[in-house]
Order: sequence, then C-alpha cells, then structure tokens
Amino acid sequence: MHAKSHADASPASRRPPDHVIVLFGATGDLAKRKLLPGLFRLAVAGLLPAHYRVVGIAPSAGAPSAAEFMQHAHDAVAEFSSVPPTGESWKAFAGTLSFATADPDDPSKLVAAVEGAAKEIGGRPQRLFHLAVPPAACQEVVAMLGRAGLADGARVIIEKPFGTDLASARTLNDAIHAVFDEEQVFRIDHFLGKESVENILAFRFANGLFEPVWNRAHIAYVQIDVPEKLSIEGRAAFYEGTGAFRDMVVTHLLQVLGFVAMEPPISFSAHALAEEKQKVFDSLRPLDVTHVVRGQYEGYLAEPGVAADSTTETFVALRAEVDNWRWAGVPFFLRTGKSMAAGRQLVTIGLREPVLRMFDVDASTTSSDRLNEIVIDFADPGSIAVEFLVKEPGADMRLGRTEMAFRYQDSFSTANELEGYERLILEAMRGDRALFITAAGVERLWEIAAPVLEHPPTIELYQPGSWGPSSIDRITRPYRWHLPEGG
Ligand code: BG6
Repeated sequence: MHAKSHADASPASRRPPDHVIVLFGATGDLAKRKLLPGLFRLAVAGLLPAHYRVVGIAPSAGAPSAAEFMQHAHDAVAEFSSVPPTGESWKAFAGTLSFATADPDDPSKLVAAVEGAAKEIGGRPQRLFHLAVPPAACQEVVAMLGRAGLADGARVIIEKPFGTDLASARTLNDAIHAVFDEEQVFRIDHFLGKESVENILAFRFANGLFEPVWNRAHIAYVQIDVPEKLSIEGRAAFYEGTGAFRDMVVTHLLQVLGFVAMEPPISFSAHALAEEKQKVFDSLRPLDVTHVVRGQYEGYLAEPGVAADSTTETFVALRAEVDNWRWAGVPFFLRTGKSMAAGRQLVTIGLREPVLRMFDVDASTTSSDRLNEIVIDFADPGSIAVEFLVKEPGADMRLGRTEMAFRYQDSFSTANELEGYERLILEAMRGDRALFITAAGVERLWEIAAPVLEHPPTIELYQPGSWGPSSIDRITRPYRWHLPEGG
C-alpha cells in the first residue's frame, strides 16, 4: 500500500521558541539512553529552537567534572543515537551543553547555571525542566525549583512512575501543584510519543472507513499486547519495587487503551483529547482480580539484587472493561511481560463474525479463525494490517485468510520519524500537552488498579522464552491470545 503525504511544513515554522532546557538526572540511565541522544537528534533535524542551551544537572555527590560530563554526553550519543556525534552538527550541539550540580539545600549553582544560559541566549527564553530522576528525588527537585524561584512561567517534564498507588500519586500531584500549575506540567509516557500510537487517532478519526465499526456492535474484543524478550536487564533495584503491573499496565498499556477506546474529540487540542481520555478512564471498571494473572519467569529469583522470596511479577495478563455506551461487554485483554518469546507492541481489534455462516471452512478452522482482525503494530516504525477471509482460487468455494497491510517504512520516508521521547520533548517545548498525562488521569488509573495492588493474585511461574503462564487462556475465552507470526 502506498501513501501520499502533503509536503512537509518547514520545520522552522514549528520550531519552539528559544529555550533553556535543564536536565535533572543528566548522568543517569534515561538521559544516557534516550534524552541526550534524543536532543541531539532533534538538533540535527532542525527542530530545536533557533537559540537554546542544555544544562545537565546532577547532585554534587559523585558528580562528574564539566569535561567528564561532555565526554559522557558524547559517548551516550555515540552509543544510542542514530546520528553519530561528529562534524559541525555535534560541535554546534556540544557548544550548547553545560553541567552544574544542585542539592536540595543548595540550589545556588543551579540558579547560576540557568541564569547564565538564559543570558547567553538573550531575551527571555522559555525554561523547561526535565526531571529524569527517581520518584523520591522528584518531589525534592520540584520543591527546590519552587524555593529557588525558577518555577514561574517554566514548564516541567515529569517521568513515571507517577506514584505507586492512589495515595502516593495524590501526594506527588499535591507536591507538584504546590509549585507548578497543572498547565505547566508535562507527565511523560513515551508510548504516547510513538508515531504509531498517535496514528491510532489518525486511523480512527481521519477516515470514514473504520470509525463506524469501532464499537460494541462490531467489535468482539480488543487486545493490547506488549511482550518483551528482554529480561530485567540488571534493573532489579528499580524492578523489585515496581513489577510489570505498575511498570507497564498502569502506565503504557492503559494509556494506549485510552486512545483506542476514546470518543471522537471535538478537536485535536490537548484539552479535548485529555477530556475524552479521562472519560474512558472514568468508565474503566475497577480491575477484577479473578481476571488477572501475575507471572514470574523462572530464574528471576536468581537475578542479582532480587530477593530470594520475591513475589514481584515480571508478567501480567488481565481483562479490563470499559463500561460505557460504546464498549459495554467488549473485553480489553492486556498482556505484557519480560523474558517472553518475542518482543512486540500490538493492538488487535477483533471484529465480530457475520451473523450467518454461509461458507464451509475446513474442520481445523476454529471460530476465532473466522474473525476479522485489525492489527496495529506500534513498535517503530509501525504497521496496520486488516486480516480477512477471501475465496481461494479453484473450483470449490473455499475460504483462506489474507491481509491488507500498511507499513510505514514501505509507504513513507521514515527519515522524519521521531522516537517517542524526541517527539514528546519537542511537544513540551512547543507547550502542547495533547500527548501528555494529566493528574486526574494518573489518579483514576491508580484507583481502578487498587484491587490488584491490594489483593494481588498468587504468582505463577513461566519459562523464559514462553508466552507466560498457560492459565492466561482462561482470561480470553472464548477468544484467544493472538499474535501474528507465531504468537
Ligand atoms: C519502560 C519500562 O517504561 O518501557 C521498561 O520501564 C520497558 O520496563 C520499556 O522495557 C518499553 O518501552 P520501549 O518502547 O522502549 O520498548
């Protein structure tokens, strides 16, 4: 399938205003893997402001020297960016970087660094604080920004986890709101920055073809499936206290569900999208623990840093229900886990069978095989396939399964494609909150998650490289977990 696109608006027309970007946690893992490489990629693509400075911040204990930080940034980009840190573009980007330390009881160097950067730019550049710090440090940094007088008119990007349950999420939101208005806050979920997740909205609302069937009359089930091949990759310190349910479901998977299930917003504005997403979250029934399976891969207990008797789940599968006019009775199956058979990121929409079975199919065909499915693969670069039945050539009326498919990489130049973080940092600089998460959204998701947090089902073991505990099939009956190409 080939695609026609309108000529790109020139990047300059969508360039954010001049900025001082302040990166807390600048020496941490997220900054290394995503944020520094992402900023450099945006710079190379001409999407950063005409004038900007990036100020890296870390606590003074164990902080690198300015020269060491520059080397760190260079190495991070070399390892994790699609664009190598060489030539004029790197020189120009490196010229915008600086480093300072900040401690809660002594923000003086931070203030000096932010003011110095603003002076270099001239005028009144916008301030963007990106808090790539652990949850405990987040509140401290927010309070420090308030005390230091840096919050006024600034924007702040907050990283997940947004609390660990409803009470802690409320405490965190209160602490943030003591310093920033909600309009200044950009809670980031990098799944919402993925081209193919945003494309769910285009697919649904820019076409007359799909939205008319996007409801309980035509859809039998929805599956949101993010199996990962990766294990916890040495992140026990983070993962032990978190687990798959908090790490993936209460964040990424339910956010994607919000896009799949929302009513048509009146516009693509942040306010309109947030409103419709919130209605979906408000319609979600509190999760029923009898429809939740928690798994742990065999060998997890032997991972360095994991408690010998840990009951942290590395896998979770569940059935969610959106109790509203559009979706009543349609199960939403969610599944994610570490050390699984494949790494995929898929939304599958199962359409109902036609009312009359006119055609013979061979005996091996199950009822599920008769369903049409729309499969949205939202792992970059992404694709959408519509699976359906056709007549096989030949003298008999025999049915065979086939698909119509759209693949980003075959249809468009993906040179302009942005990674989730890149897209979202850019949107935060533009001041557009459409793809970010609201305080109310976070709190509602913790609310519906409460039954699982309070009464977690017993852990079931699964083999690394498998599709999780076999008991998950009971969740989807009479349908089935389905992944194209061998799931
Ligand atoms: C992160 C989780 O938010 O998302 C990780 O903490 C997970 O555990 C990751 O592996 C998956 O995201 P992606 O899109 O980078 O594969």
